[in-house]
Amino acid sequence: MHLSQAAMNLGQSATLRLNDLARRLKSEGKPIIHLGGGEPVEEIPQAAYDAALKKLKTRQIKYTPAGGLVELKNEIIAYTERKYGFKASPKNIIVSGGAKQSIYNFLMAVVDPGSEVVFPAPYWVSYPDMVKLVYGTPVIIKPKEDSLLIDIDNLEKCITSNTRAVLLNSPNNPSGAVYSEDFIQKLVEICESRNIYLLTDDIYGRLVGGGIKTPLPFSFSKKNLDDSPIVSVNGVSKMYSMTGFRIGWSIGSEAITKAMTKIQGQITSCPSDLSQTAAIGALRDGETFIEEINAALDKKRKILINALNKFKKVKLSVPIGTFYSFPDFSAYDKDSTRLANMLIEKAMVVTVPGVEFGLEGHLRISYCGGEKDIIEGLERMRKVLDSSVEVVS
Ligand SMILES: Cc1ncc(COP(=O)(O)O)c(C=O)c1O
Repeated sequence: MHLSQAAMNLGQSATLRLNDLARRLKSEGKPIIHLGGGEPVEEIPQAAYDAALKKLKTRQIKYTPAGGLVELKNEIIAYTERKYGFKASPKNIIVSGGAKQSIYNFLMAVVDPGSEVVFPAPYWVSYPDMVKLVYGTPVIIKPKEDSLLIDIDNLEKCITSNTRAVLLNSPNNPSGAVYSEDFIQKLVEICESRNIYLLTDDIYGRLVGGGIKTPLPFSFSKKNLDDSPIVSVNGVSKMYSMTGFRIGWSIGSEAITKAMTKIQGQITSCPSDLSQTAAIGALRDGETFIEEINAALDKKRKILINALNKFKKVKLSVPIGTFYSFPDFSAYDKDSTRLANMLIEKAMVVTVPGVEFGLEGHLRISYCGGEKDIIEGLERMRKVLDSSVEVVS
């Protein structure tokens, strides 16, 4: 039977495939350590649990407005004002089934066939395929020599009359790098002066170490929100360890928010009522949780950096935010897929090949798991790579 071009051209998400592989190998009793994951191990905040349970007890879990519960939008507004000093209105917000759906709604709302969407490498694995799904053309900017960040001038040079949008993810998955305020300010200026949409994927904005600031792009805007081409995406998945609830949101002009809401209404009617209620609880009362998760990540980041520094030939750009690192392993093997497969086979450790994020020679190593796994996983990798010792299964 016929399958659409879109279905046939679409790649499977590498990270989801590796999650499945890690689960399967574990269930077969293999001593696998998963350093390729993308979600914190922490239990959800108590406030989210309490709110969800209270809602469940009403036995009334129904459709909500397509763009989300007004109560949740108000909570997002209060949170954004508290944390970022930026005040939005309910008409500027749409709640979605995870930040991923927010990004997809956005792309569907702005991209025409052949429109170009520009973003830096390394990028979140899903961006190229999401752009292709809406018949757009991904335009990828390579980072500067010996850096995991791009040069703003390189980005500007790649903007053409076909450019519809720029995507920026900072703190970045997979590198853990954070773009400077100066970079974001210039990017906002470029996009606003040329009337190109700028979507900032701010999902890891609260997971940063060392007191580094990660302001929302609106702080640099010279326009009213309703006249600005900037859209900020956020959500509860990472900062509250609530990946399974599937709640994200975007803040943007009324016009783009209306278009995205129309699209979402036709695709999924609305986000889950129960999950939205849990998100209200988290936003209202989850600040201590974020402090605790950051303290745990700071500790794990140090453990990871320490372990990576012991490798003979790894080049590490020290991660600042998220719970990922993206060291350069090319001195061991320039082909990151072959290297990651070898590490699964010989060290029983799952990592994600850098090529999936648009940068060959690197591996994404997560530190969102348990401390013991990080220590043992990296030690196994080092033994295989530096001393050719295999883990016996
Ligand atoms: C950069 C980035 N954006 C968006 C998402 C999606 O978040 P959500 O689980 O809320 O859909 C992820 C998840 O891994 C991510 O890493």
